[in-house]
Amino acid sequence: MNLILMGPPGAGKGTQAKRLEDGRGLIQLSTGDMLRATVESGSEVGQQAKAIMERGELVSDEIMIAMIRDRIQQPDCENGFILDGFPRTIAQAEALDEMLTKMDVRLDHVIEMKVDDGILVDRISGRFSCTSCGTGYHDRFQKLQKEGVCDNCGGTEFTRRKDDNAETVSSRLEAYHAQTAPLLPYYKEHGALKSVDGMADIDEVTRQIEAVLGAV
Ligand code: AP5
Repeated sequence: MNLILMGPPGAGKGTQAKRLEDGRGLIQLSTGDMLRATVESGSEVGQQAKAIMERGELVSDEIMIAMIRDRIQQPDCENGFILDGFPRTIAQAEALDEMLTKMDVRLDHVIEMKVDDGILVDRISGRFSCTSCGTGYHDRFQKLQKEGVCDNCGGTEFTRRKDDNAETVSSRLEAYHAQTAPLLPYYKEHGALKSVDGMADIDEVTRQIEAVLGAV
């Protein structure tokens, strides 16, 4: 099964993609994570991307399409993937259609996570993750079971993203409404779009997504 999770920054795409990865054996393809790894590598593309991400703007379609084209053809994607953060523009969506057609791969679902802008700053400013295994948490909504210790790997160091500040979040939201929201009618026309209530608690959102996907 192949799907896209869509929604504004902080909607819960990464949180739900991880659950689907664990529960259904699908591969999460997060372009945000891929870009952060590229930035970490210190390459020229990474340096360009870093400045753009810190402004809350979108990295060029050319870079993003090439990144996904390389990744989606790797053997671990054959059992199904979850696109998290891609496509984000009409050009990216058209390029995705073209690459999937060439690969003879079908897109089964596009799931929109509907969330009001008003709560996103709260969601994003409380987010942190384990430095060792990357498991994501939230100061209020997804707490550590034991203070200072990762539930998943026992790690004791945590990190917060550089672009998770109020100013950058407002640019990221602007970019979402101007460039990514127009994809919703695009996928509606193609008959693949379903919506879930991203304002609900994390377990309820998982239940709604599972209901869309159907039995394992
Ligand atoms: P990216 O990393 O994709 O960030 P984003 O889309 O802004 O999304 P986030 O990761 O912030 O949020 P999320 O929806 O995954 O929420 P999460 O599950 O963490 O992109 C970063 C940057 O990279 C972009 O700004 C851009 O510059 C660049 N980029 C990436 N892809 C690109 C592309 N295709 N083209 C061009 N540029 C690109 O949840 C947030 C928090 O809320 C967590 O702490 C979680 O615990 C909590 N939470 C989650 N769900 C709930 C819930 N239901 N109730 C309460 N709390 C919840």
